[in-house]
Amino acid sequence: MSRRRILVTSALPYANGAIHLGHLVEYIQTDIWVRFQKMRGHEVHYVCADDTHGTPIMLRADAEGISPQQLIERVWHEHKRDFDAFQVGFDNYYSTDSPENRAFCEDIYLQLKGGGLITVRSVEQFYDPVKAMFLPDRYIKGECPKCGAKDQYGDSCEVCGTTYSPIDLKNPYSVVSGARPERRASEHHFFRLSDPRCEAFLRGFTQGGERLQPEAANKMKEWLGEQGEHLLTDWDISRDPPYFGFPIPGTGGTKFFYVWLDAPVGYFGSFANYAVRRRAAGAAIDQDAFLRPGGDTELVHFIGKDILYFHALFWPAMLEHAGYRTPSKIFAHGFLTVNGEKMSKSRGTFITAESYLRLGLNPEWLRYYYAAKLGPTMEDIDLNLDDFVARVNSDLVGKYVNIISRYASILNKHFDGIVLAVDPKSLVKTRKYSMIAYAADEAVREAYENREYGKALREVMRAADLINQQIDQDKPWDLAKNDARKSELHVLCSDCVNAFRVLTYYLAPVLPQTAARAAELLGLEYPFAWADLARPVTRVKPYQHLITRVDTKQIAALVEANRESLQPAAPQQSQQRHAEHQQHAAEESAVDETISIEDFNRIDLRVARIVDAQQVEGADKLVKLTLDIGDGTRTVFAGIKSAYAPENLKGRHTVMVANLAPRKMRFGVSEGMVLAASGADPGIFLIAPDEGALPGMRVK
Ligand code: 2FM
Ligand code: ZN
Repeated sequence: MSRRRILVTSALPYANGAIHLGHLVEYIQTDIWVRFQKMRGHEVHYVCADDTHGTPIMLRADAEGISPQQLIERVWHEHKRDFDAFQVGFDNYYSTDSPENRAFCEDIYLQLKGGGLITVRSVEQFYDPVKAMFLPDRYIKGECPKCGAKDQYGDSCEVCGTTYSPIDLKNPYSVVSGARPERRASEHHFFRLSDPRCEAFLRGFTQGGERLQPEAANKMKEWLGEQGEHLLTDWDISRDPPYFGFPIPGTGGTKFFYVWLDAPVGYFGSFANYAVRRRAAGAAIDQDAFLRPGGDTELVHFIGKDILYFHALFWPAMLEHAGYRTPSKIFAHGFLTVNGEKMSKSRGTFITAESYLRLGLNPEWLRYYYAAKLGPTMEDIDLNLDDFVARVNSDLVGKYVNIISRYASILNKHFDGIVLAVDPKSLVKTRKYSMIAYAADEAVREAYENREYGKALREVMRAADLINQQIDQDKPWDLAKNDARKSELHVLCSDCVNAFRVLTYYLAPVLPQTAARAAELLGLEYPFAWADLARPVTRVKPYQHLITRVDTKQIAALVEANRESLQPAAPQQSQQRHAEHQQHAAEESAVDETISIEDFNRIDLRVARIVDAQQVEGADKLVKLTLDIGDGTRTVFAGIKSAYAPENLKGRHTVMVANLAPRKMRFGVSEGMVLAASGADPGIFLIAPDEGALPGMRVK
């Protein structure tokens, strides 16, 4: 295996707000990938920074009566504290307001200018005469030109949904001062994205190779259009003062770089700063090998799908034409929903990292849950708070930790903690637990590499299940009572400890702290290297808890702590809800209220083959189904017993909701739902796809 050299980034958070659970999806996703690559022995540098420039930060500092520098300094510490606590292991966490970043921005701008890719044009914009500043669209409000609703933003109406430009607003006012804005012209600098060189480059960049996920590459096709359509327009990269940012060279401080120009350049600024720190510590990195074209290094960006445009169009086009290397991969993820809905301050689901930590919740619970939900696509992921409790407790405590807690105490009590070197020659006989664990190696590795963390964890938990079942059969606690079988018990214990060690390696990218504790317990070096997967344990220390259970009360407290009181708005809200309710009552039998296509797309419907169907003892309505959906099987308890005899169901195809939160029932956990029709007349009718549909196919 050749040693890869990878520079990895996560998007830079704005320096005017707290880190919340939505942000953490990305940092945790990136961190897991980075830890995995490091475990594999690659040279990886993970850098990030606060995104510090722009109007909102300037105005926020103003409102607090401090300088922007004071604001970004304070927020930097808050962000760093949260990232550290969630074990996001940046090699460097920096700021875009840095000399390194400024030097890169100036260089990139001058290179582009030298190449004829900068142009200057006059732009007319709203201007606040009281604040003496140009206003970004979101700082202008007024009445919607369509429905007349008051206090609508400059780009769209929240009441009727119409989109428009700020100049269409009736009675516009500045959000900053309340003054009526004037229209004024000023010169702006543009990056000439419409230049044929940019278009030609971007066609190759976005369609060739595997730099983008398939969904992202499709989006790019849309943005680029057909050859000859020339959809790309020049990008306005300058702002007038007052502006918190870097002055554009040659403008005498009359123009500043727009924050979105200097933000991605901040990746390089942070990396350069890291390179200096490393050099000072005597471990130099070849900076140019990572930032200039032609080398064998990789540049990998993790981002949210909302900022794909900036990362897959502006950023690579800028780099390419300024003499820098372009990204090797851009991995976009979806948004976070909580309990199936957008995070909401009134529902208490807009949860800050700080509140999570303050209430004593373990960051590894969230790391594990997110990992279990994460895949390689841009699909949104849902944090279902009930499922969170169930999943963490059942997988981490009930399956993984259970393995070692059962055996470590026996080893300590009867064998002084000594672990036998299990004989590799008679693998099957003496290493049955270890063999189960080792068998998952390749699948787990592949899944991490491809950012299919949910799949990696399913593999690990499947192994943990099998090991636990084997332990139940072996009944070590009985053997411990029988002196004649002590040596047999010692082999089993040793084998089991080794199997646990292997599972701990697999989980280490997700649970670094638990892995470190387990390493301490087993006397292993940490951080782990994947190459040491076969290295034996010789002694176990007395067992100490590795990870505790989540208590539902903690979750309730978390939601409560994040709930913003809606007192003043409450009467109006409840009136509205009352009106909606009445309307619904009148339309009981009509089709439900409309949902958006995005809402529908969040339901992961799959073709499923019923591989097994069983009666459920003690249940009047349920049939236990084992469903094959391509990547494995799921158990679903379906209320279809009145209509179907289990033996008639085997081999049939149906459709299941594959991303429904697992539900604990009296008879076991149901991992989804099958679709069936029913109405006022008797009968339940299972939905079936047409001939030829295969398990796992998506239903849309
Ligand atoms: O969308 C955001 O939160 C931006 N602050 C991300 C910047 S990422 C990169 F380009 F710097
Ligand atoms: Zn409107």
